[in-house]
Amino acid sequence: MAEREAWGTRLGFILAAVGSAVGLGNIWQFPFKTATNGGAAFVFVYLLAALLIGLPAILGEFVVGRRAEINAVEAFKRLGRPAWTVVGALGLFIGMWILSYYSVVGGWVIRYIVGSATGAYFDGAGTYFNAVSAGWDAVAFHALFMGLTAVIVAFGIEEGIERATKLMVPSIVVILVGLAVYAFTLDGAGPAYGFYLSPDFGYLSNNLGEVVPFAVSQAFFSLSLGMGAMITYASYLSEDDSLPADGGLIVVLNTAVGLLAGLVVVPLLFVQFGDVPETAAAGGPGALFVSVAQAFTDLGVAGRALGVVFFLVVLIAALSSAISLLEVVTAYFVDNYGYAREKVAFAFAGGLFAVGTLSALDTAWLTWFDTLAYQVLLPVSVLLGVVFVGWVYGPEAVDEIKRGTGGGETFAMAWLWSVRTFVLLGVFATLYLGVTSIYSAPAIPLV
Ligand code: PHE
Repeated sequence: MAEREAWGTRLGFILAAVGSAVGLGNIWQFPFKTATNGGAAFVFVYLLAALLIGLPAILGEFVVGRRAEINAVEAFKRLGRPAWTVVGALGLFIGMWILSYYSVVGGWVIRYIVGSATGAYFDGAGTYFNAVSAGWDAVAFHALFMGLTAVIVAFGIEEGIERATKLMVPSIVVILVGLAVYAFTLDGAGPAYGFYLSPDFGYLSNNLGEVVPFAVSQAFFSLSLGMGAMITYASYLSEDDSLPADGGLIVVLNTAVGLLAGLVVVPLLFVQFGDVPETAAAGGPGALFVSVAQAFTDLGVAGRALGVVFFLVVLIAALSSAISLLEVVTAYFVDNYGYAREKVAFAFAGGLFAVGTLSALDTAWLTWFDTLAYQVLLPVSVLLGVVFVGWVYGPEAVDEIKRGTGGGETFAMAWLWSVRTFVLLGVFATLYLGVTSIYSAPAIPLV
């Protein structure tokens, strides 16, 4: 069998992982969820969740991946715990589930780049969204997005994913900083910063049961946890880097980009509407597309240019995430059956394109896929992963996390302890609250 691929450099791995983490979750969902869940109060809980739960959990996935040096499904067998293969398989399944509709939204984004350039949504942002978000046009752009994803994955780890993300991630940061500076200069942006940055703890304590699980699931999704993506990426690490250092950097960068995206989007919405929550809440998954597009419309010609740049950065972020989802299943078939990488990538992209047409034809399906992923599938998968790392693989996991840190005993023990206790509890509580909220107020408008 051919030698397994690996990252060319440590920076390559870090940027690829940041590329996976930074995506629609940061630029589309994070500002939207912030706007509809109490602003800064949500941001505050999110930051805690990313640091206290997200970081230990992502380190757990890195440990499994680097130790096993194989895809997320096979990894558990190689670590001598074959029964836990189901966790890897579940992650792979969820990754595909999510990619099917993630690509539909990616298609919207491409459409909005074009629409910004031509000013197509300038006569009515809401009508435009309704026209392009569902139907055969949406299917076509979904196909385009999925095709781009497959092309990058087909080129391989170093030549495809590493090369692409080395270019993409720095561009995302530079463009977002530019846009945030621009948003700062807008008249009327002032109140946006208050809403976004100074938490209303009263709101938080009254809505704890909702805000907390939303914020924690958001952190999982945003850090690409529970889908085998981080296990797979870490499995291509051949050198003895410090996982805690890499993981810390990835979490900080991901969080920073989410915050930065909010510094662009929240002011844009405030300038337009003077307020955010109701408008954002009214439109479901399209709210951001409608409101942001409306904000660009009001800026006239400058709005066209800004629209192109804004949606371009969203596209880059979405693509660098989608490739990590497709890589999970690609790695599995390449490792286990020796199939050619490009065949697997295109075959699965095709299959998932087909599944995603449901979401592309009717956004109710998209909401259904997304709700189930967020509130049930992801927390279940992260929970099982945390139990595995903390309680089943514990001592060996400690060995692995210490590798390359030059000691690191205290950190490793603290990490294991956190995974075994509050990380586990936090994930469990999120799952419980997510499931009960679906049960009590079905957010699944399928019928
Ligand atoms: N983290 C990505 C985002 O924030 C989504 C994603 C999830 C990508 C899981 C890969 C794996 O958009």
